[in-house]
Amino acid sequence: MELLERIKAQAQSKPMRIILPEAWEERNLRAAEEIIKEKIADLILIGSPSEIKENAKKMGLSHIESATIVDPNNNPKKDEYIELMLQIRAAKGLTREKAEKLILDPLYLSVLMIKAGDADGEVAGANNATGDVLRPAFQYVKTKPGVSVVSGSFIMIFKDKKWGDDGVMVFADCAVHPVPTASELAEIAVCTGRTAQNIAGIDPRIAMLSFSTKGSAKHEVIDKVVEATRIAQEAAPDLKIDGELQADAAIIPSVGEKKAPGSKIAGHANVLVFPSLEVGNISYKLVQRFAEAEAIGPILQGMAAPINDLSRGCSVSDIVKLVAITACQAQQAK
Ligand code: ACO
Repeated sequence: MELLERIKAQAQSKPMRIILPEAWEERNLRAAEEIIKEKIADLILIGSPSEIKENAKKMGLSHIESATIVDPNNNPKKDEYIELMLQIRAAKGLTREKAEKLILDPLYLSVLMIKAGDADGEVAGANNATGDVLRPAFQYVKTKPGVSVVSGSFIMIFKDKKWGDDGVMVFADCAVHPVPTASELAEIAVCTGRTAQNIAGIDPRIAMLSFSTKGSAKHEVIDKVVEATRIAQEAAPDLKIDGELQADAAIIPSVGEKKAPGSKIAGHANVLVFPSLEVGNISYKLVQRFAEAEAIGPILQGMAAPINDLSRGCSVSDIVKLVAITACQAQQAK
């Protein structure tokens, strides 16, 4: 079975409650129709019930009827969520007046529903910038125990099956944390290994990338990757992690053998961890275009509950895929 089919089947095996906060718009509604029809998730749509139903009717979508719709302007749990917001953020300066306004915003309402245990995950971003989706999540859902930074990975599916495992690799961080410290980079490596295992379904061989292989160059940014490798190996002895490696040493067996003899990862990596967001974001986009690879993500990792961010140029099928992935992450989180 193809990877995406496997992910959908996994999501269908135990449907999770996933929120679409931008339910008023066409791509979200078309995706919702497909998700409900295929039983990929128990969807919660945020918005005005009359507007959602009217739009769905105009588009000829008949399955939307069975989704739960939560109206921010007529929400029986509003006061409960405001109390929760104040418990979490009053010390950070949140006032009741501000909370009363924020809870009307679908992106804040969604994270409060998740925090209160009324939903399992969220997919947004078709109509909102990355920062606007992530900020409420960082503030209220926060990170998993033992993780201090959220990061974003991409599952890269190559036409040429020689890369990674049968054409599947995982890249991170390509989406969130601009300049990680050594210990944050180690966390990103471990979280990416778990995403590779749990979502991509591969046995991760993780390369910590730099512009040096095993001491071939000297610079403080290389020292950071060396330190991150040590911390990650110690933190997750069950994962296969090596570094610092150059990209060619990580993925080309003959180069790996020459530059990093004895390394079990060099030449055979299927997970690439980049030293900064700049490198990760540029690399995944170049690989996606040059190799005509499919880039699935960003899959946000390290959050206490799964919240994923769509590109504003996303298609209906991108939304369906990301909901399926979010549902799988929610199953793992439970
Ligand atoms: N993980 C966990 N928590 C975080 C993270 C993180 N990576 N970054 C910030 N936070 C927390 C902070 O600790 C803070 O919490 P607090 O209010 O409880 O103290 C809160 O989030 C806000 O932190 P700020 O530093 O004020 O963060 P800001 O809101 O300015 O920025 C953001 C956070 C939006 C994620 C920023 O890091 C960012 O813009 N990253 C890049 C995102 C991006 O543009 N990616 C590229 C496009 S995506 C793509 O191409 C696929």
